[in-house]
Amino acid sequence: MEKLIEIKNLVKTYHLGNIPTHALDHVDFTIYQGEIVVILGPSGSGKTTLLNCMSGLDQATSGEILYEGTDILKLSDHRKTKFRKDNLGFIFQTYNLLEHLNVYENVLVGAKLGKNKNKIDELIDTMGLTIHKNKNVAELSGGEQQRVSIARALAKNPKVMFCDEPTGALDEKTGKVVLKALVEANELLNTTMIIITHNPGIALIGDRVIRMNSGKIVEIHKNEKRIDPKDIPWG
Ligand SMILES: Nc1ncnc2c1ncn2[C@@H]1O[C@H](COP(=O)(O)OP(=O)(O)OP(=O)(O)O)[C@@H](O)[C@H]1O
Ligand SMILES: [Mg+2]
Repeated sequence: MEKLIEIKNLVKTYHLGNIPTHALDHVDFTIYQGEIVVILGPSGSGKTTLLNCMSGLDQATSGEILYEGTDILKLSDHRKTKFRKDNLGFIFQTYNLLEHLNVYENVLVGAKLGKNKNKIDELIDTMGLTIHKNKNVAELSGGEQQRVSIARALAKNPKVMFCDEPTGALDEKTGKVVLKALVEANELLNTTMIIITHNPGIALIGDRVIRMNSGKIVEIHKNEKRIDPKDIPWG
């Protein structure tokens, strides 16, 4: 598999008064094109910081973040923003949809952000939302809204999707449907997926699992095979 992202010696230190917090403490790993990587770790271990630094949302203190060889830490703010817009998709625990628009329109807004664009109707269908296409998003359940936000993020055909606790606000049944949607997008579009969770069961749907604690990577585990999201022991 081809290397997509190489993280080298990444450090993020926050200073609150005189006390430094080493949110990322010399982190090294590689993400390969097309894989699903799950980042697991207790609260405060640095998962969100890692995702935000890797994606350029937050400025790392030092280190290298190479996308196909280009260090995004060395890009100007303008070029970094453009890089993010063209190549990266985001899903959070909250759905951040445009409440006054319908499903189709929300996904269309996502497509307008990037230069590549996937077919909107196909995405809505893949996410199982065809019957809801013309509904206002405020009329949908949490799981349905999260699938709209996945379709919206995929609409610009990002190389990588960063998902921070995508099922954090969902119950088991709905959470599994949302994870299935992410896996299907990975299989259909070959989108690389990086999924943060504190649910160890979710680690089983990935190709590899990165375990964090206190700002460090404590283990990188390769799963023998991915399990279907419906078979996750939810805990
Ligand atoms: N903006 C900030 N300013 C100061 N310290 C921060 C900031 N953001 C995060 N931290 C600290 O960095 C450490 C890592 O936080 P981070 O949010 O990355 O953890 P996390 O693994 O995502 O936790 P959770 O599972 O609760 O979301 C924590 O000690 C946190 O308090
Ligand atoms: Mg977090």
